[in-house]
Amino acid sequence: MYILAPSLLAADFNILGQQIRETEHAGAKYLHIDVMDGMFVPSISFGMPLIQSIRPASRQFFDVHLMIVHPERHIREFTECGADGITFHLEAAENAAELIRSIHSFGAKAGISIKPGTPVEAVYPYLEQVEMILIMSVEPGAGGQSFMPEAYERIRQLRDYIDAHELPVKIEVDGGVGKKNVRKIIDAGADIFVAGSAVFKKRSISSNISQFMEAFQEKEGIRKNGKDK
Ligand code: DX5
Ligand code: ZN
Repeated sequence: MYILAPSLLAADFNILGQQIRETEHAGAKYLHIDVMDGMFVPSISFGMPLIQSIRPASRQFFDVHLMIVHPERHIREFTECGADGITFHLEAAENAAELIRSIHSFGAKAGISIKPGTPVEAVYPYLEQVEMILIMSVEPGAGGQSFMPEAYERIRQLRDYIDAHELPVKIEVDGGVGKKNVRKIIDAGADIFVAGSAVFKKRSISSNISQFMEAFQEKEGIRKNGKDK
């Protein structure tokens, strides 16, 4: 099953609760929450108080993407304020295995993210411990960037490795994902699709999301008329 994870960064914070509910009603099972600290990435976004305050607005899986240095300092707080999954950057981790253990000890799912310049092989040693790998398809730090085509091959490489070793790890893709490239990204082997601008900008949230859902259904072989592919 393919999952859409709307990225909060692109939402209208003046009507945040309403927009989150719209994404949930439209079928987005995850909510992607980008935490930036002005250190690991130049920009600063938001942190625990925001997550805590939106938690009652949604039953979605809160997919927290930590773009911060020293992620080990904040795992407990992020789980306490409502994170269901915590993804840290391998580039920011001093001891990734220990971080994964810490995330699990607080009852959350663990993910590792890699920037476009980090070799895919760098996550191989952790694939038996994590629930998810997040392949960045832009340089982390800002929404609204273009998908880097090199990401297709990186996703495919990881998909092949995960399948060859029969591991239950999910592949998430983040950055420049939209209705134009979603089918190609599915074909490369991704499971979870982060989308900020493509969900919250231009048309309505529900019509934007329905285009993703159509692509998912098409690829899952469930045609609207009920026939299999
Ligand atoms: C970028 C963030 C993304 C971003 C995606 O550093 O990790 O989650 O919000 O935004 P779009 O979909 O607009 O590229
Ligand atoms: Zn993100």
